[in-house]
Amino acid sequence: MTERQPLIAGNWKMHKTLAEARTLARAIRQGAAAGRWAEVALAPPYTALAAVAEELAGSEIRLAAQDTFWEKQGAYTGAISPLMLKDVGCHYVIVGHSERRQFFGETNHTVNQKIKATLAVGLSVILCVGETKDEREGGLTILRVAEQLQEGLAGLTAAPEQLVIAYEPVWAIGTGLTATPDQAQEVHAFIRAELTRLLGVGAPYRIQYGGSVTPDNAAILLGQPDIDGALVGGASLKPELFLPIIAAAG
Ligand code: 13P
Repeated sequence: MTERQPLIAGNWKMHKTLAEARTLARAIRQGAAAGRWAEVALAPPYTALAAVAEELAGSEIRLAAQDTFWEKQGAYTGAISPLMLKDVGCHYVIVGHSERRQFFGETNHTVNQKIKATLAVGLSVILCVGETKDEREGGLTILRVAEQLQEGLAGLTAAPEQLVIAYEPVWAIGTGLTATPDQAQEVHAFIRAELTRLLGVGAPYRIQYGGSVTPDNAAILLGQPDIDGALVGGASLKPELFLPIIAAAG
């Protein structure tokens, strides 16, 4: 792969009832230009996966889940397995989002288990990494991201179509603060070098940026040489914001 296809993914987080999810998915489907270069994925909450799968049927827009568990099935109350996500029509699973790390006790070790389980059923992973505000201010950004990649990807191999990295600086999520294009590019270039070290090759893997992406900053971020898409939170809930971000990716 010489030219990487950008991936614009909408992480709806804990938003949208069934009816709202259907309306939003329909609007994205209708508004995303046919013949676009970017790949598009939508990650609704678990409760809306089946409904959004129906809305997206026959389109090229991919369905994504926001998290998973590492076991196939069993007595794990409240958990959803990769096999169930495959069954409902998911293509991607987001793993290691900072909100999972912050509020639900996710560690690099559990991230690693979840990635392995997801790849094992043939689904693709979007692995989120990123530093906190304190870590950035303390000069620890590269160290933290390196650790998340090394431990998250320990002992596994994944083809470029099976693994996407999302660099999401925690201080930029939902805050309106965006990494500058230079700040983001610097970490993305590091991630690519680290993928080369860990997986043998880095160039073909896509690395998304996430954190307060809007129609206003999408084009300049996506124009950086190592930024291959966006993982969008707040702006993905509104077609009038998400569609221009898709368009900015070409
Ligand atoms: P915001 O776009 O709302 O900052 O969220 C980013 C994010 O966490 C996507 O996963």
